[in-house]
Amino acid sequence: MAGEVIYEVKNVSKRYGSVVALDGASLKLHAGEVIGLVGDNGAGKSTLVKVLSGAHKPDGGQIFLDGAERSWDSPRDALEAGIETLYQDSGLAPHLTVSQNVFLGRERVKKGILGWFGFLAKKDMEHEAHRNLEEVGIAVPASNRSVSQLSGGQRQAVAIGRSVAWARKVIILDEPTNHLGARQAGEVLQIIKAAKKKGLGVIFISHTLPHVLEVTDRIVVLRLGRIVKDAPTSEFDGDTLVGTITGTIQTIKVEGD
Ligand SMILES: Nc1ncnc2c1ncn2[C@@H]1O[C@H](COP(=O)(O)OP(=O)(O)OP(=O)(O)O)[C@@H](O)[C@H]1O
Ligand SMILES: [Mg+2]
Repeated sequence: MAGEVIYEVKNVSKRYGSVVALDGASLKLHAGEVIGLVGDNGAGKSTLVKVLSGAHKPDGGQIFLDGAERSWDSPRDALEAGIETLYQDSGLAPHLTVSQNVFLGRERVKKGILGWFGFLAKKDMEHEAHRNLEEVGIAVPASNRSVSQLSGGQRQAVAIGRSVAWARKVIILDEPTNHLGARQAGEVLQIIKAAKKKGLGVIFISHTLPHVLEVTDRIVVLRLGRIVKDAPTSEFDGDTLVGTITGTIQTIKVEGD
């Protein structure tokens, strides 16, 4: 059962020049809930992700975290508030090791003897990176291995593991199963389930509808910048989901009907 509403957007809009990418979208995410965000190419999913992750300021609308209205000036603001986002290109640094990637931008420095001579606590980070990844069910060969030596699927697993390990409230995954084999995609879905179990709110974006149907509690369908359907996953099957996305199934009451 999902908990309290942790993250919410009300009536957010975003335009790029004359293109209306988001048109009054509202969304509520509960603790321990997985929402699937779906829609055709250009529907506005990534734009909504960018508003939620602090990468874009909406032109209108409100954002609430734990019931308090917030406004993000940068992705760092949202990150510091406990919202992790995994963008389509995961942003791992190939020349760094697994543990360095897990701690990228959050490197731990130990105080030196003189107090001001800091050095990175390398072993501590390796151990903790390993523990963090294991906790979410990722078996990475060794956290001191360079990411360039991992397969695409293993890299993706590290990127997701990193997000889940750091997220304190919300995790947003933009197409995390893209380009993965069936087994690796299955592992990513397991990680999403682990994140849910930890009580995180998860937003999962994917065009692979069987994955969405398998792992989500609720599905939100975007069409041309508008949320046209927001319902429990149990109310959909493959056909109704496709119909809702493409618009062959009527979702919005037309004025005068
Ligand atoms: N930086 C930008 N400048 C201008 N228009 C943009 C920009 N980013 C997105 N758009 C437009 O905004 C609309 C929504 O795009 P968005 O990337 O949010 O769609 P999406 O649902 O993520 O699609 P996809 O499934 O292809 O990733 C589209 O019409 C797109 O062309
Ligand atoms: Mg997109």
